[in-house]
Amino acid sequence: MGRKFVVGGNWKMNGDKNQISEIINFLQTGPLNQDTEVVVGVPAIYLDFVRSKLPQNVGVAAQNCYKVPKGAFTGEISPAMIKDISVNWVILGHSERRQIFHESDELIAEKVAHALEAGLKVIACIGETLEERESNKTEEVVFRQTKAIADKINDWSNVVIAYEPVWAIGTGKTATPEQAQAVHRSLRQWMCENISPEVGESIRIQYGGSVTAANCKELGAQPDIDGFLVGGASLKPEFVNIVNARQ
Ligand code: G3P
Repeated sequence: MGRKFVVGGNWKMNGDKNQISEIINFLQTGPLNQDTEVVVGVPAIYLDFVRSKLPQNVGVAAQNCYKVPKGAFTGEISPAMIKDISVNWVILGHSERRQIFHESDELIAEKVAHALEAGLKVIACIGETLEERESNKTEEVVFRQTKAIADKINDWSNVVIAYEPVWAIGTGKTATPEQAQAVHRSLRQWMCENISPEVGESIRIQYGGSVTAANCKELGAQPDIDGFLVGGASLKPEFVNIVNARQ
């Protein structure tokens, strides 16, 4: 299955206009492999600024949104607003949204459904905690998180899944290529059996969790790893190397 490699950079709550201008500069300089789809996840306050500066071959994503078009939801932004500034992606269900802001599988699934209805493309994040992995619950967790979304949507064509083991996020402790491939393979098989073979074979599954220029090639060589969602390293010029991991 020819799944286009897709690399996301999740800036999280980092950056100011000077640092963002430096990031834009190394993204413009590249060179970026034209066969790889690139999307940068930008703090909401800088979305319009970044979209206006980045070349169109680099996608821009919000890092979150709410589940309705508008209303009395102080502090939130809607998919309609994201589209209104020509931003076409949103990252949803990141483990920090789940762990720190207590977003449930159900809420995340509702957000995914509404973002897709509004015409956005979605990077939907899943992943187990260290405790869950050590209890041999990894598959149970990622299947449950994916099923919550599957219960709310029918069209997966604008969804990318990011498998991000929580114990690898921001820790420098990357999953081994074998560990990551095993979960990606298992999730893809589950999707083939529980959603459809077409969806399971075509869905792109990114790996996220301490991806760097040093480990990206070995990870990217795994057959069921279709890209990365990168945190810390996406703020640095080495992000270009990660984008080019699969030539
Ligand atoms: O969304 C990507 C992020 O969670 C991974 O962070 O710093 O481990 O690459 P990091």
